[in-house]
Amino acid sequence: MSTETTGAAARDEGPRPGDPADSPFVRACRREPGPYTPVWFMRQAGRSLPEYRKIRANVAMLESCRRPDLITEITLQPVRRHGVDAAILFSDIVVPVAAAGVALDIVPGTGPVVADPVTAAADVERIRPITRDDVHYVDEAVRMLVGELGATPLIGFAGAPFTLASYLVEGGPSRNHTKTKALMYGDPDLWHALAGRLAEVALAFLKVQIDAGVSAVQLFDSWAGALSEADYRRYVLPHSQTVLAGLADAGVPRIHFGVGTGELLTAMGEAGADVVGVDWRTPLDVATRRVGPQRAVQGNLDPCLLFAPWPVLEAEVRRVLAQGRAAPGHIFNLGHGVLPETDPDVLTRLVALVHELTARESGRS
Ligand code: CP3
Repeated sequence: MSTETTGAAARDEGPRPGDPADSPFVRACRREPGPYTPVWFMRQAGRSLPEYRKIRANVAMLESCRRPDLITEITLQPVRRHGVDAAILFSDIVVPVAAAGVALDIVPGTGPVVADPVTAAADVERIRPITRDDVHYVDEAVRMLVGELGATPLIGFAGAPFTLASYLVEGGPSRNHTKTKALMYGDPDLWHALAGRLAEVALAFLKVQIDAGVSAVQLFDSWAGALSEADYRRYVLPHSQTVLAGLADAGVPRIHFGVGTGELLTAMGEAGADVVGVDWRTPLDVATRRVGPQRAVQGNLDPCLLFAPWPVLEAEVRRVLAQGRAAPGHIFNLGHGVLPETDPDVLTRLVALVHELTARESGRS
């Protein structure tokens, strides 16, 4: 289907061999059969890799996200090492927010910390719309990466309005999202103004990445699981829909993921994703019933299983693959990001195992 492929030439002619738009990963996103089940890992760039720690030794996180040479190298590291079926851009969900004028830092071992948390309309007004120039380093890095990666697809990403808003309102990571919910319930107009502004920033950030050549995008709403379905539908879904609907004609698959979102999977599918990411709590066959036959699923091995004895891990991988067969397309992943203490060799073995176990099923993705 020519309108659903990536790359200028491919848009007109359909994918050609060696085109990332024809890769096992993009095919699975589109619910098309492929040679094996594709696999990549959230937070595969950085975290557990010694070569990442070495390159980051004297460079602050935000600075490394603004250097095209470092973005490119760190993005490629897990592809070289593990043979994963997709690369994910090395960046962070707060990079476009910083580019929009919000004073923040990413503190090692803590995460994003915002200098002046949002409490009033004036704070929302200060979040400017972003253009390509504001994130030119991402544009440059994606272009370099697309050249380097060849047939391997590159996934672009952004944080969804709720998860971004939580960092901006709380001022940093939060367990209960108390201030965020207080604002949502207590001042719905301000909440919608903030979430609307963050949806614009996320959409603009994703468009820059798509224009530069990414083959798919993932919208991370990592902390949406803190909400009831009713509140998710009322306060969050319209804003995530703005982001995903804004990309409906962009020609790349859209993945939407959150943690603890078992009860929200139907609504998260309605946000407009082609693929719904599932954490380890919900079996993929159950998830598939919730998101419906028109969407693929991604997931969902518990990241802690990478610390279990190999036979236990292997049995769980087989279970995830078996349950994933209920879906019209399955991309193997963890149920959340790679934990920093993970042995990288286990990840490499895991990629080989998924490929080996699914290559026998000729003709399906
Ligand atoms: O997935 C990848 O490998 C690509 C890179 C990536 C990073 N952050 C790099 C990073 C991606 C996709 C993200 C997304 C992100 N950032 C999310 C959504 C995904 C998720 O995990 O739920 C969220 C919630 C954030 C916010 C954030 N930034 C957190 C929670 C942290 C970790 C804090 C910590 O150190 O435990 C960060 C910092 C961060 N982002 C690091 C990396 C490699 C660690 C920075 C370091 O090495 O010092």
